Amino acid sequence: MCGIFGFVSSRQREASVVFEALRELEYRGYDSWGIAVDTGGRLAVEKHVGPISRATAALPAGRAALGHTRWATHGGVTDANAHPHLDCSGRFALIHNGIVENHRELAARLGSGHCFRSQTDTEVLVHSLEERAGDVDLLPALLAVIRDVQGLSAVAVLDVCTGQIVAAKNGSPLAVGWGDDGIYLSSDPAALGTHAREVAFLEDGHAVALGDRGAAAFDIATGLPVTLTRNRVECEAQRGTLAGYRDYMTKEIHEQPEALRRIAHDPGPAALGQLFEQAREIVLTGCGTAYHAALSGRAYLAAAGRAAHVAMASEMPALEPMLDADTLVVALSQSGETIDVLEAVRAARAAGARVASVVNVPGSTLDRLCDVSVHLACGPEKCVLATKSYTGKLAVLQIAAGCAAGRESETRAAVAASADAIETVLRQEASDRAIRRAAERIAEDQHLFILGRGQCYPAALETALKIKEVSYLHAEGFPSGELKHGVIALVTNGTPCIILAPDGPGRKEALAAAAEVRARGAFTIGVSPCDEPEFDLTLRAGKESTALFEIAATAQLLAYNLAILRGCDPDKPRNLAKSVTVK
Ligand code: AGP
Repeated sequence: MCGIFGFVSSRQREASVVFEALRELEYRGYDSWGIAVDTGGRLAVEKHVGPISRATAALPAGRAALGHTRWATHGGVTDANAHPHLDCSGRFALIHNGIVENHRELAARLGSGHCFRSQTDTEVLVHSLEERAGDVDLLPALLAVIRDVQGLSAVAVLDVCTGQIVAAKNGSPLAVGWGDDGIYLSSDPAALGTHAREVAFLEDGHAVALGDRGAAAFDIATGLPVTLTRNRVECEAQRGTLAGYRDYMTKEIHEQPEALRRIAHDPGPAALGQLFEQAREIVLTGCGTAYHAALSGRAYLAAAGRAAHVAMASEMPALEPMLDADTLVVALSQSGETIDVLEAVRAARAAGARVASVVNVPGSTLDRLCDVSVHLACGPEKCVLATKSYTGKLAVLQIAAGCAAGRESETRAAVAASADAIETVLRQEASDRAIRRAAERIAEDQHLFILGRGQCYPAALETALKIKEVSYLHAEGFPSGELKHGVIALVTNGTPCIILAPDGPGRKEALAAAAEVRARGAFTIGVSPCDEPEFDLTLRAGKESTALFEIAATAQLLAYNLAILRGCDPDKPRNLAKSVTVK
């Protein structure tokens, strides 16, 4: 879950090129950052704990540089554990995204005399490289090192003797960019911004060497040359900017109406609908918020008369025995780089299943793995929390299921109406005040329960996830029908309970659940189109046809207000990263 960026140029470039790029990649990990610059025979290195967005650096210019933003896996968050890691001679600077599962075995094979400066699993790679490089080139030496590594990773090395950068990809993303001022390497094309006009995506098992003679790719196992397919990718379109908003979470919440209106007219979901019609078995999978969208997708398909299995991507191995050529696996992912989703899709392909994705990042590994990809195209989502990509997935699944049932125009109209409904929630001063009041009432609590039934159960899970990941308040979503089967034992005097009670089926039961928890002292917050005696406070949302989208926007705003009240960073919550590319 780290960010990698580097360049090789025919002229001196300011290190700020890497600095700015790492800021674009900060969402991938923000525990620490580091940059190495080849100043012409010497490596200048600066690396520090903390997010790069709050850092400054006084690095010299150079013709090659390599930078990294870290999400700590092995070794605490310290300056010494920040990447890049240098070999003893100071010839190589190495950065890494992934986990070296056999780092102890590799360290045991090293000769004596190496000076380890960190507690990371990564550092052993640069000392292994130092031993193999000797008087051979960096490329064959690095390929030999990588062949011994167990675990998914992307590794990049800057060699101050040649000014070359060599990188190898095994599971974590790497893209190569070509521009007028140099050749670039990046975990995500978005960081290439205005520098590159063409981009190639490195495949697993391949390495690339960037140097004076351009970029050349090789097969890691054989060392033989392989082709790099250069695509014109509008990287600029993938860059996120705040555009005047105070943070990305606010910006991306408010981008939902426009994103949904675009999806309402996008042909992509119809292609997915055809796959739904053709498949004998349907499996929906994803992680976190994407998993919650998959649960809602199952309900949309049930309403279209189609059964679907749903599994968290990490639990897909349990479903593998049922996958075959008549199965359609639909992977939902904003980043398209979530390792559990990629592994589930690779296993599905190996079982002969058709694989489709609903993904927001074009050119991502998932996008390139699938037979059919529906792009959310809702623009860069830089906040760690999934907001517009969540409602975007709901919209795509609702339309695709509608297409499978011959109700395409009806479901497209429903999505367009949901865009309007979210816009109303976002614009209404009254909802703003009520949401703020609700946040103020619960901001000091230790536990919060969200109760939902039917389509509102996934919405309850998603509401809980938004709140806990951004405000660190323990929130749990429960099916309200389960209250009397144990959960209600958790409710005591003053316990805040949010009850999702939109119009439509289940409302009566939702009100009964609110009465039950209130009878035991709970403070009840109803998410409902109108006030009810069962609610101590009402957040107005939930007309039946647009309920899920209104509830989503309400939950996002409540989570945001709680984060601010509890002094949390709404864009970069502690311990998290935007894309989980390691297991
Ligand atoms: C959602 O707010 C979280 N950031 C997280 O659960 C996220 O949805 C999950 O990691 C999946 O990410 P993806 O959609 O990029 O695959």
